Amino acid sequence: MKQVDDPKTDQNAIDLATSFLDLLRSRRSVREFSDRPVPQEVIETLIATAGTAPSGANKQPWRFVAVQDTELKRRIRVAAEVEETKLYETRANEAWLKDLARLGTNARKPFLEEAPWLVVVFKLTRDDEPNRETDQVYYVNESVGIAIGLFLAAAHVAGLSTLTHTPSPMKFLGELLERPAHERAYMLIPVGYPAKDAMSPDIKRKPLDRIMALDAGRVPNASDPTRSLPSSTAPSS
Ligand SMILES: Cc1cc2nc3c(=O)[nH]c(=O)nc-3n(C[C@H](O)[C@H](O)[C@H](O)COP(=O)(O)O)c2cc1C
Repeated sequence: MKQVDDPKTDQNAIDLATSFLDLLRSRRSVREFSDRPVPQEVIETLIATAGTAPSGANKQPWRFVAVQDTELKRRIRVAAEVEETKLYETRANEAWLKDLARLGTNARKPFLEEAPWLVVVFKLTRDDEPNRETDQVYYVNESVGIAIGLFLAAAHVAGLSTLTHTPSPMKFLGELLERPAHERAYMLIPVGYPAKDAMSPDIKRKPLDRIMALDAGRVPNASDPTRSLPSSTAPSS
């Protein structure tokens, strides 16, 4: 067993948590990328950060495939646009289309060629470590989701932009990237520097008292209603 690091004081913990919030509140999904290259070492470091995530029984049921090859990216874009066209034309119901309209997205996905890297995240449906005792994996979706969250946060802290893209169904990614059958495509993340004039949809975060309750249904600042709560809203949005 190893000692877990401990912030020295409560104020120290508040300050560290607040500065992390300040960093993260300016993260936005980006759909327009610069063609400025990003060194492979940066991508490796982001993936290593994702790999620090907790996972069910420490099975680490993820594989991150980093794609930089121009022709592969083009083929991924073409296949994604086929699926996305079906989504916008027939698969999505009216409510879904209305929600998407607010974001201004459509079936065209030029960012899949423009971003210097596409990081394709696969979930493992069985353990494939050479020295495994069993094939079983646990809480795979939860584990991979957490790892992706760390990846996105690390990219943002490094000054890079990302998009969590889910062209559905994503089977084409396993085929194009020649992955084995037990790896299932989970998320497609373009990574790069944002284009000079990149715009993000004008969205708002829910206030803390809409995403947090204290004990049995009390608001977080129930004991001191004058205390202002931390907010996720980016000052610029
Ligand atoms: C699971 C998941 C799937 C998403 N799929 C897409 C997608 O396919 N295309 C897209 O443009 N944005 C996609 N998004 C991005 C969301 O639209 C975006 O995160 C949300 O509008 C909040 O904006 P923000 O990321 O800038 O804070 C997805 C996000 C998540 C978490």
